[in-house]
Amino acid sequence: MLIFDRKNLVGVDIGSYAVKAVKVKGTTVKTLDAIAYSRLDHITLPQDNLRLSEALRNLFNAHRITTKKVAAVLPGNYLTLTHLYLPKMPKKDMKEAVRWEMRKQITFPPEELVCDFTSIGEVKRGEDIMISLIAFGAMKRDVGQVIKIFEDALLEPSTIDATPIAMLASFNHNNVWEDGINYSMMDIGESKSTLAIFKDKRLMFAREIPIAGKELTISVMERLACAEAVAEKEKIRCGIVYSGEGDRAIADALSGVMERLVAEAHRSFDYYQAQFREGAINKMFLCGGTSKLNGIDDFFTSSLGIPCFVDDPLRNIRIEPKRFTLTRLREFGPDLTVAVGLAL
Ligand SMILES: Nc1ncnc2c1ncn2[C@@H]1O[C@H](COP(=O)(O)OP(=O)(O)OP(=O)(O)O)[C@@H](O)[C@H]1O
Ligand SMILES: [Mg+2]
Repeated sequence: MLIFDRKNLVGVDIGSYAVKAVKVKGTTVKTLDAIAYSRLDHITLPQDNLRLSEALRNLFNAHRITTKKVAAVLPGNYLTLTHLYLPKMPKKDMKEAVRWEMRKQITFPPEELVCDFTSIGEVKRGEDIMISLIAFGAMKRDVGQVIKIFEDALLEPSTIDATPIAMLASFNHNNVWEDGINYSMMDIGESKSTLAIFKDKRLMFAREIPIAGKELTISVMERLACAEAVAEKEKIRCGIVYSGEGDRAIADALSGVMERLVAEAHRSFDYYQAQFREGAINKMFLCGGTSKLNGIDDFFTSSLGIPCFVDDPLRNIRIEPKRFTLTRLREFGPDLTVAVGLAL
């Protein structure tokens, strides 16, 4: 009965490297119902929208996912994300005010703007109490395209969310919150990394950084003067740990890129602490395909000086061993954080 299926949406994370779909069932105890993963070789949006629909349809069929309703994120660079301060006002006026502020930041015609926001809390700025919030904006046309990709795959997009919101949902389900503690999570994918800071069950800060797996591969490719596919294999095999003298060149090439990513995280933490008069970030969780890079947790821990862990988005989700091979699920692990968040 589809009508009772409303809450059990399939979370679909369309990335530039792979699409991941996750479905969970149950209300309080969540049980894994379906998992699907597919590389998106040579599919670039918007030229290949139809091929993407086909890939989605095939993925759902191959994994016998019959649920049509999906929760998705806006892929790639379709999203504009900004921090705003606004005077206190009724909620319905807030929406208009956010729209007004967003209009100043976009490069497309304002009538094309769709936006939403999440408020962080009240902050004192000078003499005034202001509301601090994170606003998300996108072009109607882009959102329409994403909806069409799903519809062409015979799916029904029920919600389209921003990546940091999905990360928060996954984090919330899988971790115990400590009062007043600042947690950070970074989704390191193929083309971009999304940095988020959470506190007291709320998203406090979010930012996209254009450094991720692709740049790591290119750096190895240049260092070894090899093909991209070879460089990717070597990146995955070696990581940023020296396991032998022969791997030093690869590890060095990767460290160079990772140092810049860590520096961006550092800068964001400093900004967050100064701007919001916040305490230090206490812990960091890494997710996305690139968080599986060998040695990444130690690299982040020693560079940032705080404990950094690779996320396990299935930690608090019941898995029936009869239905899923646990070792296979472990392989995906942090790739699925955003899809799990969407599904939740
Ligand atoms: N074991 C591994 N070690 C290092 N990197 C890995 C490993 N497995 C996958 N990757 C890298 O992870 C990246 C893909 O991650 P992910 O699936 O999260 O990206 P995406 O969500 O499709 O992309 P984006 O969010 O940037 O649009 C690729 O760059 C891939 O090379
Ligand atoms: Mg991604």
